[in-house]
Amino acid sequence: MTERLAIDGGEPLRRTPYPDWPQWDEREERALVAALQSGQWWAPGGTQVKRFEEEFAAYHDARFGVTVTNGSAALEVCLRAANIDWGDEVITTPYTFIATANSCLLVGAIPKFVDILPNSWNLDPRQIEAAITPRARAIMPVHIAGEPADMDAILEIARKHNLLVIEDACQAHGAIWQGRKVGAIGDMGCFSFQASKNITGGEGGIILTNDEGWAEKCWSVSNVGRQRKGEWYEHIRMASNYRLSEWAGAVLRAQLGRLEEQAETRTRNAAYLAEALSEVKGLELLPRDPHVTRNALHLLKMWYHPERFGGHTARQFGDALQAEGIPLGVGYPEPLSEATVVVKRIEYIRTRLGLPAEPRPDVPVTKDVCARGLWLRQNALLGSQADMDDIVRAARKVQRAWV
Ligand SMILES: Cc1ncc(COP(=O)(O)O)c(C=O)c1O
Repeated sequence: MTERLAIDGGEPLRRTPYPDWPQWDEREERALVAALQSGQWWAPGGTQVKRFEEEFAAYHDARFGVTVTNGSAALEVCLRAANIDWGDEVITTPYTFIATANSCLLVGAIPKFVDILPNSWNLDPRQIEAAITPRARAIMPVHIAGEPADMDAILEIARKHNLLVIEDACQAHGAIWQGRKVGAIGDMGCFSFQASKNITGGEGGIILTNDEGWAEKCWSVSNVGRQRKGEWYEHIRMASNYRLSEWAGAVLRAQLGRLEEQAETRTRNAAYLAEALSEVKGLELLPRDPHVTRNALHLLKMWYHPERFGGHTARQFGDALQAEGIPLGVGYPEPLSEATVVVKRIEYIRTRLGLPAEPRPDVPVTKDVCARGLWLRQNALLGSQADMDDIVRAARKVQRAWV
């Protein structure tokens, strides 16, 4: 007789929670109190944001860092800095958080969606060139789940067609592609420090670049159009205020100090889990790409094979595992190329510019990932080996009940 699943009213496999997120201790506490007591609560008068920009950029081998309020703002600031405007096109992936596409749409640009690779769920470089039109201005690869996209191939295409590369590294703090940290491999790169991210300040974002010109423009766009060396009330471009506060800067410095150790733990646990899960037929971790020196593992990605689980869907499997106490579940529900707000906004922009309607791109791999892809959140990977074993035990328990 099989055990009754927790989702059907049985006893959950575990009640102990996985490591909580965010993680903090007296380091963050001290940093916050020091920022408070300094009396300098905003970046122009303080030291914390400035130092965090330097430290985060140095950690990623980038020359410049410009902090902003969040990752969405970081993407939008880069596009505005590059004067990407109404009717311009940005090639990107449909398998990402909506902010990637929205950043383009908010400046009037059109995201051109190119399908992803089944092995990484990142942009398929072989499909990019077919999507390039005379309106194309940039490629915006996303290092999804913390795994770097194929930056060599993307940069080669970008150079050939004179396109900018703006990396969406919002999930990829400390990720390394062929020995190079992501973020400043392209022209500009964006990170998010929203609450779930591998470094968090509650909210926050940063743009990295090796180009002083881009750094100055991004700084200006996020500082109401000022210039670093200009007069305070001299505004040279139309822009808003996207500055980060000293509170966030102080906490982020402490968080950055934890990243390396946490990244090692995630890597170790992911390798252990890959081995242990290989016994569960029907759950397939994505293969390790030898070009990826380090996957930041914001999410551990896996394919789910419903036929091995009595035909139950990935969502049903995720719900069953969560009931057993395992933080594993489905990800983005649909390709962004099919999300109503995105589709309607593209139509609106095209109509306003008198451009003919375009058919929706064919993105079968993204559709498959939306239907059968699963994510394990990064904080679960900070647990013990026994915590990893429980994931395997829970998957087996559900499989036994369903087949
Ligand atoms: C891939 C990706 N891009 C952009 C963002 C936007 O970042 P934020 O939530 O900080 O605005 C996020 C995170 O939420 C993300 O995961």
